[in-house]
Amino acid sequence: MSQENSTPKKHDELLEKKALSLKGGGDKRVEAQHKRGKLTARERVSLLLDNDSFEELDPFVLHRSTNFGLDNQHFLGDAVVTGYGEVNGRLTFVYAQDFTVLGGSLSEAVANKICKVMDKAMESGAPIVGLIDSGGARIQEGVDSLSGYGSIFHRNVMSSGVIPQISVMMGPAAGGATYSPALTDFIFMVEGLGQMYITGPDVIRAVTSEDISHEDLGGTEAHTVKSGVAHFAEETEESCIARVQELLSYLPQNNMENSPPISTSDSPHRYSDDLNTLIPDNPNQPYNMLDVIHTVVDETNFLQVHKNFAPNILVGFARFDGKSVGIVAQQPDHFAGVLDIDASVKAARFVRFCDAFNIPLVTFIDVPGFMPGSSQEYGGIIRHGAKLIFAYAEATVPKISVLTRKAYGGAYIVMSSKNLKGDINYSWPTGQVAVMGAEGAVNIIHRSQIRESDDPQKLTAQLVAEYEENLMNPYIAASRGMIDDVIEPGQTRLKVIRALKMLANKRETIPPKKHGSIPL
Ligand code: HXC
Repeated sequence: MSQENSTPKKHDELLEKKALSLKGGGDKRVEAQHKRGKLTARERVSLLLDNDSFEELDPFVLHRSTNFGLDNQHFLGDAVVTGYGEVNGRLTFVYAQDFTVLGGSLSEAVANKICKVMDKAMESGAPIVGLIDSGGARIQEGVDSLSGYGSIFHRNVMSSGVIPQISVMMGPAAGGATYSPALTDFIFMVEGLGQMYITGPDVIRAVTSEDISHEDLGGTEAHTVKSGVAHFAEETEESCIARVQELLSYLPQNNMENSPPISTSDSPHRYSDDLNTLIPDNPNQPYNMLDVIHTVVDETNFLQVHKNFAPNILVGFARFDGKSVGIVAQQPDHFAGVLDIDASVKAARFVRFCDAFNIPLVTFIDVPGFMPGSSQEYGGIIRHGAKLIFAYAEATVPKISVLTRKAYGGAYIVMSSKNLKGDINYSWPTGQVAVMGAEGAVNIIHRSQIRESDDPQKLTAQLVAEYEENLMNPYIAASRGMIDDVIEPGQTRLKVIRALKMLANKRETIPPKKHGSIPL
């Protein structure tokens, strides 16, 4: 008799506990969270994952601290919601910090929960998304909390290049709490909510007397425009999660797989007449490289990464004939597409991500060179520029390039050149491969001739024309095999798709080593 009655009782008890765990830090704190304009951890998980696909893990975990009154503050699941589900039908792991429980702070128990899903994501070969909203290390737990961060960092590093890791900043991240996101592949920020800083405004005021707001110090402008720490800024939590889903659609589940192909009605043979007249006659006149990218990729879709940081170079994901590629392209509309420190670092990181995850690289080149000047030299343009050379040279994924106009000097070599094992290098008829631009070159090689001339201006113009005629065209590089073919711009889409198809089973290895020593 007792057995028959005990089962419903146990069942009721379970439902009661589950209902309690769904409330996080309680009704009042949930209300406060909503008043701040923020969703709760569970609401965020629901937005990310397909309907009804979430399987929660560890909803009954409790912290074990008795310090400073914490023995009276137990919340089922503690300050994080963890588990797995599907995004557009594909397995995805997730953890969402719950600000309603002790400010989403990281206890030993919270760290253990996060580490468990990180381990499961690695074992299952699936991406992990962290939804961050936390006051950082749980102050009452001292070293246990710090040690928890250490365990997460170690897993971030071990997972790097194995599964995609994404962080979404939906609230504060202070101190060391910023470093787990920093170790992941992509950081998203919600405008007005996401903030990241090593030390907050109060500490800064005390140490340096600088007065700065939380938002100015660590908001979206600070990190998606100025520091480049974060890759995407979105206006709302909803649009941010939608962007995360879009990014995931371009990525494979892990480094042993390819990105999933998507069916498209965009013909691989589509010819684009507009491209034949896109490049201005005047080599110093800018144009918008986005017009080229949007024209040649499937259905004009290009997901820009780091859109607002170092806009002189464009990086992001697109598809050719339904298959994901990573695009790197100079943007002549910004600083003539010059390679400076930020552009080099932005592109190098993107190239390495694509290489780690079997995503072919398509590079569009129009680069006048590396940025001259003392501030760039003192900032280490040599070291940072070398990162991009390293990244392209090391990448073994298919590498296709299209030279639209300038490829001068070291910048010619770095941008997926044949010498760095570019697989297919095309040029438009407007391509110019040279050590430097005509004016600069003439003033160096004919300096004394010009100085001694009766009409230096006329002679310079004549020598510039001669240099342009003889050196500033793609046919010399093509005659050496450094350019595989000079193509009609209108045929670019078709040519890239055929090259990608030819390279689909490309196998290339690098010498056995523990790892290279990239100039960090
Ligand atoms: C314990 C915390 C907490 C923390 C917040 N809370 N942060 N509890 N440990 N780190 C609690 C608050 O006491 C409060 O509890 C509730 O969470 C909400 O916090 P509020 O301050 O009321 O919220 P808000 O005004 O929105 O401010 C959010 C905040 C602020 C900016 C994050 O709470 C803050 O500055 N917290 C401390 C941030 C910090 O310095 N963390 C340590 C970083 S160093 P009640 O009960 O009142 O609701 C670090 C080291 C990691 O993380 C090293 C790794 C190597």
